[in-house]
Amino acid sequence: MQNTPPLQTNRLTLRKFTQSDLPALLNIHSDKEVNKFLPMSPLKNLTDAKTYWENQYAAAYKQKQAYQYAICLKEDNIPIGYINISMNDSHDLGYGLTKAFWHQGIVTEAGKAILEQAKKDGIPFVTATHDRNNPRSGGVMIQLGMHYQYSYEEQWQPKDQLVTFRMYQLNLADQTSPVYKKYWDDSAVHFIEAGVTS
Ligand SMILES: CC(C)(COP(=O)(O)OP(=O)(O)OC[C@H]1O[C@@H](n2cnc3c(N)ncnc32)[C@H](O)[C@@H]1OP(=O)(O)O)[C@@H](O)C(=O)NCCC(=O)NCCS
Repeated sequence: MQNTPPLQTNRLTLRKFTQSDLPALLNIHSDKEVNKFLPMSPLKNLTDAKTYWENQYAAAYKQKQAYQYAICLKEDNIPIGYINISMNDSHDLGYGLTKAFWHQGIVTEAGKAILEQAKKDGIPFVTATHDRNNPRSGGVMIQLGMHYQYSYEEQWQPKDQLVTFRMYQLNLADQTSPVYKKYWDDSAVHFIEAGVTS
């Protein structure tokens, strides 16, 4: 099993975050608009970025298998965003991009590459969830071929906000994977919305 094997797409290099990327990591995670729909608070300085890198990235890179990527433009190899698949039972796909690069299909392009690698490696399925007030993130899921399954409410931590999430799933190596029901089961308020593109 590989850990975050480097990937190339037309415009992008996907690779591990290193300690020399702390200024870029700070740039991605200090923007309040990028942070609005993420659970964590914005990073304030390089010390915050280092702690975040150690917990989120260095720890994952010590595991046998992980998908924790920096998204870089090929031309300069500087991280402008991130994309990852968690190694827990949800196989959750997560992503974020510096605002200056929004609306160019960059996260969709990165998403296609990471899903292809995950499928090759035998990951049975991925899920992804987005706040329903953040439909552009749902747009990425749709463009990746993911299918809407259900919505649920969660008192989101550590921000402690009540959020309605939409859950999408894409079966990869195991096309018979059932719908991942944990979020549905854990939430007292869950429902299927009519009219959501699936
Ligand atoms: C959400 C985010 C990752 C999108 O990145 P991006 O590279 O601009 O996205 P892409 O261009 O690959 O794909 C988004 C596209 O989906 C398409 N789309 C398809 N169906 C859509 C729908 N129902 N609603 C909105 N967009 C839709 C749109 O064309 C949209 O592009 P546009 O807004 O430029 O027209 C980025 O805005 C971001 O980092 N946001 C903050 C962090 C975040 O929300 N992360 C996800 C948490 S779940």
